[in-house]
Amino acid sequence: MIILGVNETSHDASVSLIKDGEILFAGHAERYSKQKNDWYNNKEIILDALNYGTPDAIAYYEKPWLKRSRIVLRGGAGDWKPNIPLDVPVHYFKHHYSHAAAGYYTSTFYDAAIVVLDAIGEYNTSTIWVGEGEKIKLKYKQNYPVSFGLFYSAFTQLIGLMPNQEEYIMMGMAAYGDWTKYYKQVDEYFPKYNQQKYNFHKGITDWGWITEEDKFDIAAAVQVVYEQRLNEFMRMAHSITGKDNLVFMGGCALNSSANTLLWNIFKDVWIMPNPGDAGSSLGAAAALYGKHIEWKSPYLGYDLGGEYPVNKILREISDNGIAAVANGRAEYGPRALGNRSILADPRDPNIKDKVNQIKQRELFRPFAPVVMEEYAHLWFDMNFTSPYMQYTVKCLKPDVIPSVVHADGTSRVQTVNKEQHPGLYETLQKFYEITGVPILLNTSLNIKGQPLLNDLEDVHKWEIMYNKRIIV
Ligand SMILES: [Fe+2]
Repeated sequence: MIILGVNETSHDASVSLIKDGEILFAGHAERYSKQKNDWYNNKEIILDALNYGTPDAIAYYEKPWLKRSRIVLRGGAGDWKPNIPLDVPVHYFKHHYSHAAAGYYTSTFYDAAIVVLDAIGEYNTSTIWVGEGEKIKLKYKQNYPVSFGLFYSAFTQLIGLMPNQEEYIMMGMAAYGDWTKYYKQVDEYFPKYNQQKYNFHKGITDWGWITEEDKFDIAAAVQVVYEQRLNEFMRMAHSITGKDNLVFMGGCALNSSANTLLWNIFKDVWIMPNPGDAGSSLGAAAALYGKHIEWKSPYLGYDLGGEYPVNKILREISDNGIAAVANGRAEYGPRALGNRSILADPRDPNIKDKVNQIKQRELFRPFAPVVMEEYAHLWFDMNFTSPYMQYTVKCLKPDVIPSVVHADGTSRVQTVNKEQHPGLYETLQKFYEITGVPILLNTSLNIKGQPLLNDLEDVHKWEIMYNKRIIV
């Protein structure tokens, strides 16, 4: 059976296509419409998905009428009614169940705790499930308005950033702030995992005047409070379920600084590389299939084709320090993992400013390293792999690779092996042979404020705007 999974009316519409246990396509609407965080799917992405097969059924990632009832009865805003694109039977799944299915059914676990933390589903905001065999059972739920995600988003808004979009910028700012300054004040807003001061959907209205410097200190305090509450919640999940494997999903699973603490509680952890709502089109499809599907790689979107241009990338880095590459299928998830990436020499301390200049980003924004998996533990303090840039760890040789180390001495690491991405691995291997460093800087290839590049039209537009070549 072929199933089209659909997610829309939220902040990141997407579709996925699965055939039995295989993922044929998974992509983001924004990369086709060029509208960042597009709420709705468009004709182009649906047609691209249909290139891979004709669906027998549609799986939708929410219960629209349940969401509608919450908006009317309890508050919150937004759309709730999807545009179903094809005339085939439609199956609806609860928001948090779609998250749980996206994580558990793409994992290699047949016995795991599943934790979902986001801003809000229909009513649920924090849930704990148990996955055993092919069954997923609910064990704990916390409803709106108490919410890990709304807490983080409200502070994102308080310091002048865009909620539901720029939480990762606040996470980056936290490394520059003094967390002790506002800790007590922030902690009062979220003193326990199931207690909060008020409905954060309405924003924080009682804080008072904020200076530019305060913003970094507030960000640091919010990150510390979030990590403390997350630690308590995860320990509860461990004891409620009795499981040593964890599947973590929902938008909160994008907080790579906090995710590292999960390894202190669980023996093994799986975060599907697209844990936010955009991953739930795949989750809904998996929920309808009702069994594990094989996760081979995150390269599931639009196909630019071509062989990975290993030698061209290396030549460009050797000549200019920086190479932009667009090749093969687009990544499903928020991170560029080599197919829509800017790669650069991490040894050059000036390269960070040059890349920030190209991307027109704030200067404090950190860049991530991609490292050959077998050397990761020699360069970073980690005893696990991180193929999807989901964990932030201490860098052990910051003087050698200054451009991929954050202000607090950490790096958000992507590990890669030969099976995951043969071309990117070979690029790193050759760079290592020349330089003795098995690492490159890896950041997303996008025009400021726009989604990751998708197709050739985007490539040409980027080249004209920045007067810089992209290796395709
Ligand atoms: Fe969600």
